[in-house]
Order: sequence, then structure tokens, then C-alpha cells
Amino acid sequence: MASLNDIRSTFLDYFRRQGHAVVDSSPLVPRNDPTLMFVNSGMVQFKNVFTGLEHRDYNRATTAQKCVRAGGKHNDLDNVGYTARHHTFFEMLGNFSFGDYFKTDAIPFAWELLTKDFGIDKSRLLTTVYHTDDEAFEIWKKVGVPEDRIIRIASDDNFWRMGPTGPCGPCTEIFYDHGDHIWGGPPGSADEDGDRFIEIWNVVFMQNEQFEDGSMRPLDMQSIDTGMGLERIGALLQGKHDNYDTDLMRGLIEASANLTDGAPDGPGKTHHRVIADHLRSTSFLMADGVMPSNEGRGYVLRRIMRRAMRHAHMLGAQDPVMYKLVPALVRAMGGHYTELRTAEALITETLKLEETRFRTTLDRGLKLLDAELEKLPEDADLPGEAAFKLYDTYGFPLDLTQDALREKTRNVDIAGFEAAMAEQKAKARAAWSGSGDAASQAVWFDVAEKHGGTEFLGYDTESAEAQVMALVEGETMVDSASGEVAIVVNQTPFYAESGGQVGDSGWIRWDGGEAEVRDTRKVEGVFIHQSKVVKGTLARGTAVKLEVDHARRTAIRANHSATHLLHEALRRALGDHVAQRGSLNAPDRLRFDFSHTKALDPAEIAGVEAEVNAFIRQNGAVETRIMTPDDARGLGAQALFGEKYGDEVRVVSMGQLLDSGKGTDGHTYSLELCGGTHVKRTGDIGAFVLLGDSASSAGVRRIEALTGAPALAHLRAQDARLGEVAQLLKTPMADVVDRVKALADERRALANEVAQLKRELAMGGGSGGGVEAKEIGGVKFIAQVVSGVSGKELPAMVDAMKDRLGSGAVLLIADTGAKPAVAAGVTEDLTDRLSAVDILKAAVAELGGKGGGGRPAMAQGGGADIAGAEKAIAAAETVIGGE
Ligand code: ALA
Repeated sequence: MASLNDIRSTFLDYFRRQGHAVVDSSPLVPRNDPTLMFVNSGMVQFKNVFTGLEHRDYNRATTAQKCVRAGGKHNDLDNVGYTARHHTFFEMLGNFSFGDYFKTDAIPFAWELLTKDFGIDKSRLLTTVYHTDDEAFEIWKKVGVPEDRIIRIASDDNFWRMGPTGPCGPCTEIFYDHGDHIWGGPPGSADEDGDRFIEIWNVVFMQNEQFEDGSMRPLDMQSIDTGMGLERIGALLQGKHDNYDTDLMRGLIEASANLTDGAPDGPGKTHHRVIADHLRSTSFLMADGVMPSNEGRGYVLRRIMRRAMRHAHMLGAQDPVMYKLVPALVRAMGGHYTELRTAEALITETLKLEETRFRTTLDRGLKLLDAELEKLPEDADLPGEAAFKLYDTYGFPLDLTQDALREKTRNVDIAGFEAAMAEQKAKARAAWSGSGDAASQAVWFDVAEKHGGTEFLGYDTESAEAQVMALVEGETMVDSASGEVAIVVNQTPFYAESGGQVGDSGWIRWDGGEAEVRDTRKVEGVFIHQSKVVKGTLARGTAVKLEVDHARRTAIRANHSATHLLHEALRRALGDHVAQRGSLNAPDRLRFDFSHTKALDPAEIAGVEAEVNAFIRQNGAVETRIMTPDDARGLGAQALFGEKYGDEVRVVSMGQLLDSGKGTDGHTYSLELCGGTHVKRTGDIGAFVLLGDSASSAGVRRIEALTGAPALAHLRAQDARLGEVAQLLKTPMADVVDRVKALADERRALANEVAQLKRELAMGGGSGGGVEAKEIGGVKFIAQVVSGVSGKELPAMVDAMKDRLGSGAVLLIADTGAKPAVAAGVTEDLTDRLSAVDILKAAVAELGGKGGGGRPAMAQGGGADIAGAEKAIAAAETVIGGE
């Protein structure tokens, strides 16, 4: 028996032989379609190729495409578990021609593959064509299908559209007749809904494009798009009637039974099917970057998870079950879809966390549900208020409550549920609008209420398509705009400023227009793209393409990741008291404020910088996980002091240690709660240069640093400056320090020499020269007015003169151009009878000054006017003469 994995390979191989490129499945989150929640058919990734907007280097392709139908327009969630062919996750096999072959080849390809390679009995196949498509009818006849088994269908069943807009065209479908032991009629008959005739393949002749106003234009080229559910063709080829009996699904169902009631086909059969299906959709969604949340895709994921968890609970499981099934899924599908293997740890952890948390309220919620039902008459709907309480307090998504009621053939009063929801929103609004400065932001509350929050795609991508939900000029919502405007879209790759990381800038483009996004911030979960329309006019509802400024974001990302490494390096170098007090992650630099009282010494700065660079060179993967704040702290995560965290946090880890560290493996270097965007590997930071450390406020230091190209540019500039210095010094760069030291010594020596010369010059030049000493009463006395020296230099000069005299007194008056300075000195042998202080005071008085003083051997003071110099000298002589 061919396994589903074999069948997938046979299909892809067949078309490879027919010259088709085997293209990987696109991720489940569409990048090129703002209106689509999840990829739900093989053609989604080729949508723009069909319309001619995009070109690939092949014109024939084949894929096995991952598809999810839950949430949005195609929602199969409610039926899963109860029917043979509904799935939230399935694989669509397809072959595609982009303006290459058309009907005359597409039909024979399908026929040959089914009847030869797959060996399906021709007599069991029948086909449908669009009622006017004679050409397709004839081709089917030619390959050998009898006319009575080519059915013309006039309805939309044979005109395929991906949605209200986009490429479309008539199609032909191939059906398999499971035999008259099963009830049902051929397509187009009254009994067509029976299970006897099952559609296995849809071949679409893409030839038109449909627009929003309902009009259609023929496409420039005629193309082929086909889709065949792997699970369906697998069931057929494995002789089963039920997709859940195929080998792959059966393996998962048995794994579920082994962990719970041991009976895959027992009373818990439905539960095992739900678990098997939901395990696939939830795991594949997480592998493609969707994480459980209360918004958009993340909420759909959470709803699917919770539905599966309730079914596990109904099987009597006491502990979380889903995460234990991940290895079985990875074994079954990880060979072809390697992303499952890569994300296995993330999927396992996330499922475990979600199930552990949900189980704490599940029991109580189900009890409440039973109690509510008991109060009601038979068959009455569950009141909306009760369903709302289950939603609000116990985390029961509405469809989970509906699923629980389904077995009891009861419904929920949906209108009542919605009314209760609206009432809660109104209360939240009333509470919020009372909170002061919020008034000017009221418009964002309106936007949030009307359109919900914005889904952030920017952890995985920097460009995405989206739909314009609201345009706000000033504080008013407008329908169209052409100047300054705040743009709100349903999903965005733009990061909104938070946690120190600045908001993204970039471009929003649409057919005929462009806006520059200068900044992005968020209010009430609404991402506000502060923009200026520079071309055309932007209207609400328009499909736009958002493009983050890649170079800027790359630089911001490097700075943010480096900040985490810096934080840890500081903690290790300075102690556990180091805690983040603020940060800025801008494109050109990073700033980090942390609690620490002393300046960092040069060795600490060098050590921290070296450690950060060592982890950059380690080039390990940067990993993110979602967990509860308590679990994160348990793993050693750094949380911001005083910050409020929700039920779940994003934990970013980077760096590996040989000895003990943090995290589940006990070897993680940095582990922080963080909602920002980060590099994929630490090596992407490039380089780290710590510019310096300064005081930010009391007990808080601030470090500024650079990464990547700016860091290297900074080093290059430093180097250039050093080169210039070396050139000026005419010395090799390596000798610059010695040379500068030598120059400084030389300068000091020269300065001394100059001072000496100045003194000598002031005193008439030469150490022997100068004024002659007088003898007054047996005391040698030198008095002189000197110029070109300052008061500071006088004492040294007085000392030199005292030395020259051997015994005597000196008076020097410096003519400074302003107030004269005065110094007097008496040699030690004379101080018991003559004091320099007395000489000085007498002189100063004549110079119009006051005060001055010192010791008997040396005194200093200042006068007011040099004109009294002669009188001052005479007064000094009088003191010396003792008259
Ligand atoms: N796109 C087509 C489908 O989904 C083949 O049925």
C-alpha cells in the first residue's frame, strides 16, 4: 500500500518528468494577500504570477501545499472530527502552468497520472465541465471518457474563484465513484451531496481576473491551476472511504489513543480524530511563525488548540497530551516538511504551556456549563451571557462552547453573546476615557473598537500586503487622504515603538500611489503608521504593500540584540545589582542605562566590550519562546523592574556558555523578556564598540555604544586621527605614544628653561648681572621693579636673589600692567631682627595696596598702582634702616 508520503512523491515526480519545477510549499501565512488569513490552496503563492505582476524563472510548477481552513471565509473547524473529509489542515497537490500549456495538456496530464501512475480504474472516474466549455468536453472525450460521464455544470461549482477578487476561470473536476453500496448521486443530480461520488481533483483554466466592482477582464495569458487533496486521493488509493483511515492520519490517531483510552475506534473515536487533525494544523502554524494570542491568526491558533485540549480532557486525560504527540507528527511528516523538525522544540513547549494553563480553567468552565444547562428547559439555547462568561473568565472561545453543546444538540444564543461582548467593550471604554490625558487619543479607541488590533508580522518579515482599515488626519477618521496621515492596516511588518526600540519607517505603496512612513507607534493594540502620502490618494479599503526600511531595521535589530549581550556582560562584570533602567535602540547607536554607582574603569570597559564581541563571534542562533512570566523568571530571565507583564511573555535567548547559565539547557548566556525584533544569529551584530560610560542620574550609569558598520566606521575614524598624528610627529604609528611622552617631557623642560630665562631677563639678564645691592645699616638690600613676570613667579626670584646676597633683604615689585605684585625676602640669618612682612607692608602701603603677609623670611602682597614704586622702595629702606 502506498503511504501518503509515497503518493505525494509520485505526484511531484510525475510533474517533474513533465518539465515542471518542484516548488516548496509556501508558508501558511500568506505574504501576498491581505484578505486571506491562511493559505488555503496551492495557487495562493502564484496569484501574482497568473495576473502577470510577478515573474518566475519557470513557467511550469508543481507543489504539495500546506493549507489551513479555519478562521476566515473557509472555516472547516466546526466539522472536524465528525465527518470523513473535513480538516483544518490538509495538503493540496497541484500542477501549474503560467502562460505555458493549457487545456489540451492539462486534462491528459491529469488522466494519465490518475489512471496509469496511480492505477485508478477508469470506469470509476467521471468528470464535470463548465456548461459552455465545449473545448474541455471534447478533450475529455478524446482521452477516453464516455460522453455520459462528462457532465456539464452551469453553476459556480465549475467556475473557480479564489475570492471576490483575483485570477479565476472555468474548471473541470474529476470524481470517483465509490460504488452503489454508498448512497449518493453524480454531480449535478439531486443526490449529489451523498458520499458515493467524491471529487478528487479540480483543474482550473485560469483565464480571467475579477475586480472588486464585480467586473472581469481576460488575462493576458492562459494558465493552469489544479488542486487535489492528498488525504482524499490517499484514502482512495489505500482503499478507504474515510480520510482519517489513511496511514498518516491513522498513525496520529493511534498515538492519541496510546496516550489516553487505548481505543482508537472506541467511544472516543471523534476525540482522537479532532486531536490528530488539530495537532497537524497547530504544529504547522507554529512552525510557520504563528504563536497563540488573542488577536487575529494567533487567536485562531489558540481556538484550535483549546478545542483539541477539550477533546483530550473528554478522553479522561489527566495531564497535557498534545505536546506528547509532536514526535509522532514529526516522524510522519518531518521528512518532507523539514520546518517541523526545526520548530519541534518550540511547538512542544508552546503546546505544553497552553495546555497546562488552559486545564486550570477548563474543568471549572465545563462545570459552569453543565450547571447552566441544568437550569434550562430541554433544548433551550445556552444564554449568550453564559457563553460570554465562559469566554471571558474561562478562556472558552465561542466555537469551543458550541462544540461542547453539539453533543447535547444544543446551541448558543449568538445574539446574546455578542450583546454581552458589546457591553463589556462599552464599559472598558467608559473606564478608559475617564483616565485623563487620553482624550486626544480617543480616535484610536474608536479605531480599535471598530477594526480590532493590528496583527504584527514583523518578527518574520519586513514586507507584507495589507488592507487599509482606517485613515486618521489629526484626530479625525477620513475616507481618503493625500498629505500627512496616520494609516492603520489589518496586518503590518512595521514595528511600533516600545521597550526602547524605535518605531520602523519605510513605505506603503498601492496601485498609483505611495506614502512614506516616518514612524510607527501603537495605541490600544492599533499600529499607527505616521505617514505622508507623496503620490496619489489613499482610500480606506485599498490593498497596499508595506515595506519596512530594511537597512534601518537591520541596524536597529543589531543594536537591540547587542543591548541584551551588553546587559548580561555588565551583570557579570559588575554584579547582580545591575538592572536595566532604560534603553534606546535606534538605527545609529544604542544607549543603555543601568543601576550602578561608580564609573566603569578602563579595564571594566574593555572587559565588557570584549565579552560582547566574543558572543557576537560565537554566532549562535537567537531564539524566542512564549511562556508565562513565572516560567520565564524560573529560567533566569531578566525582567524589567516595575514593568507589568501579561499572562504570557516573549523570551529572547542568545549565547551559549560551557559552564552554567540560564534557560532550559542551563547554558544560555542571555535570557530576557522582550517584545522587540532581533538578529537571527549573534554574528549578524557584526561588531560592538563601547563609546563610553557617564552618569545618567543618581545611582544610574549610561553606556553608549555602536554596532555593525557604524562601529567599524568609528574605529576607522579613530585610526585616521591617529594616522594624522603620526604623520605630524613624523613617526611610525606604533611609536606615537613614546613620541608624545618624549615631547611632553621636552615641553616641560623647555617651559622650565623659559621661566628661568624670563626671571633672569626681568632682573637684568644673566645670573650674575642685575641691580647692585645697597647697604643700609649693615644690611645688603636689593630692590627692583621687574616686568614681564607675574606675581606667582616673584617668590622664586626673591629666593634666587637671597642666595646671591648670602645675607640681606630683597624687595621685588612686578609691573604686571595692572595691579602690581610685591614680594619681599630676608635671609634666615637676619630674620630675628628684620621681617620680610614689615618690609612688604611698608612697600604695599606706598603702592596703594592693603594687607599682604607671610613669614619673616618671605612675604607677598599686592598694590593698586605702580606709580608708587619708588616711594615703596624708599619706605622699605626706612624699615631696614630701622629708623
Ligand atoms: N485552486 C483550485 C482549488 O483550490 C485548484 O480548488
